[in-house]
Amino acid sequence: MTLTITTTPFLDQKPGTSGLRKKVRVFQQPHYAENFLQSVFDVIGDFGGQTLVVGGDGRYLNREVIQTTIRMAAANGFGRVLVGIGGILSTPAASNVIRKYGAFGGLILSASHNPGGVDEDFGIKYNIGNGGPAPEKITDAIYARSMIIDQYVTVDTPDVDLEQLGETKVAEMTVAVIDPVTDYVKLMEQLFDFDAIRKLIAGGFRIRFDAMHAVTGPYAHQILERCLGAPAGTVVNGTPLPDFGGHHPDPNMVHAHELFARMFGADAPDFGAASDGDGDRNLILGRNIFVTPSDSLAALAANAHLAPGYAGGLKGVARSMPTSGAVDQVAHALGLPLHETPTGWKFFGNLLDANMATICGEESAGTGSDHVREKDGLWAVLLWLNILAVRRQSVAEIMAGHWARFGRNYYARHDYEGLESAAAEQLINELRAALPTLPGRKMKGLTVVKADEFEYLDPVDGSLSRNQGLRLLFESGARIVFRLSGTGTSGATLRVYLERFEGPDGILNAETSVALADLVAAADDLAGITRHTGRKSPTVIT
Ligand code: G1P
Ligand code: ZN
Repeated sequence: MTLTITTTPFLDQKPGTSGLRKKVRVFQQPHYAENFLQSVFDVIGDFGGQTLVVGGDGRYLNREVIQTTIRMAAANGFGRVLVGIGGILSTPAASNVIRKYGAFGGLILSASHNPGGVDEDFGIKYNIGNGGPAPEKITDAIYARSMIIDQYVTVDTPDVDLEQLGETKVAEMTVAVIDPVTDYVKLMEQLFDFDAIRKLIAGGFRIRFDAMHAVTGPYAHQILERCLGAPAGTVVNGTPLPDFGGHHPDPNMVHAHELFARMFGADAPDFGAASDGDGDRNLILGRNIFVTPSDSLAALAANAHLAPGYAGGLKGVARSMPTSGAVDQVAHALGLPLHETPTGWKFFGNLLDANMATICGEESAGTGSDHVREKDGLWAVLLWLNILAVRRQSVAEIMAGHWARFGRNYYARHDYEGLESAAAEQLINELRAALPTLPGRKMKGLTVVKADEFEYLDPVDGSLSRNQGLRLLFESGARIVFRLSGTGTSGATLRVYLERFEGPDGILNAETSVALADLVAAADDLAGITRHTGRKSPTVIT
């Protein structure tokens, strides 16, 4: 029954931190997905008879690759596959299912916030038994294997019906189609005071949640509208579509502009939120206010104790290096350990497993806690709602109070997308070479006091990650960080992170763009962005 198929290596590029992401047409080449899947199975160890979780964000190719994965899992000796109904599993829900059912690991099919469709992106990521993304030593091994792979195994069986809950057999292996929403809702009910949120909503508090035609639709309909009693229509774009309705399922000012317009328009709801393709990112808005992800992380850390799941306080907080220092102020004031990690969620996993942190976050709209091992968009929404239900203040009032207490970190990220890779690398290399000469340099009235390249020694497993971003620190406490994206599928993206702190006494109350104008100019002077890339302005500002 098992078929052994001869193949040839295919990878032209090392998979990034988020697994293998490529255009759909690349994945459609014969044996392409199979090669990656077999490379995973070849290196992850002894899973004979064990459980594998499979699901994706519903984008184009999701179903086909799920069927392929099921057949190959059977041929490779898994005992059971758990798959979300319709092939749908959000990334945080997959993490939950892996943990809850003691699975060996999981395969999550997604390209996160990247667009979907026949001409767009697809991806496969392997998560380990703790529910989190595979660490670098595993992804490196998968990559090494994919360079020499010469065969894969599969079984010749018909497609599994993914629309019916229940169990079937594929060769010797059991396939269970499960409803992941139920498990996820149970987890959220343990963490948050659903009664308090229900009362808030019953009192007329209005929410708008934009699921962006991506994976959170079914979860949000169930939780916000059915469990918490928000009126139908609270969740918009709630049906997952293979091409996300032709949009980028990326919850930011550009791609969620309708939500922004609504929240800054007449008769705005009290709370607006959105999530991305695979449900791990979040966007938080109040009436006339956008809460930056860095500020949201800080506000959640400062108020988490108001939710039952965190009533005992936090063990620590963690942020990625380019994320603003807003949460540092909270950690300092509350006496919490603070960890600064490289970009990418996988670095938080060890800290969470070792009970060194409870809440983690990134400037790129990812926030989460030790309830799973992925960032979790709806979790952030529900924690905000729980806090709002207890404090009975508006989002704007909560943030004003936060800044008055902890100070404010003005923050923005400027992305230069679609650059020629060589030009982007040249920019970084030149700046890296210039780092030792920068301290003392004056730019737009700002003096550089420190310039270095971030590296991280993992306190749990002792691994060292180098080249994690170039940092320029200024006398005023302002900071600029330069790094290249590791998640793109074509060309290079330069990310420039800009930040300036104003203490509680010196609150500026300025527009972010005004507060950061000198830093923006200094960034170009120091790194030669226009000189290297020809670009006069960023593609996206978040
Ligand atoms: C981006 C974000 C990073 C996030 C990752 C996966 O990576 O910046 O914070 O963890 O996507 O969602 P980048 O493209 O910058 O390498
Ligand atoms: Zn995502």
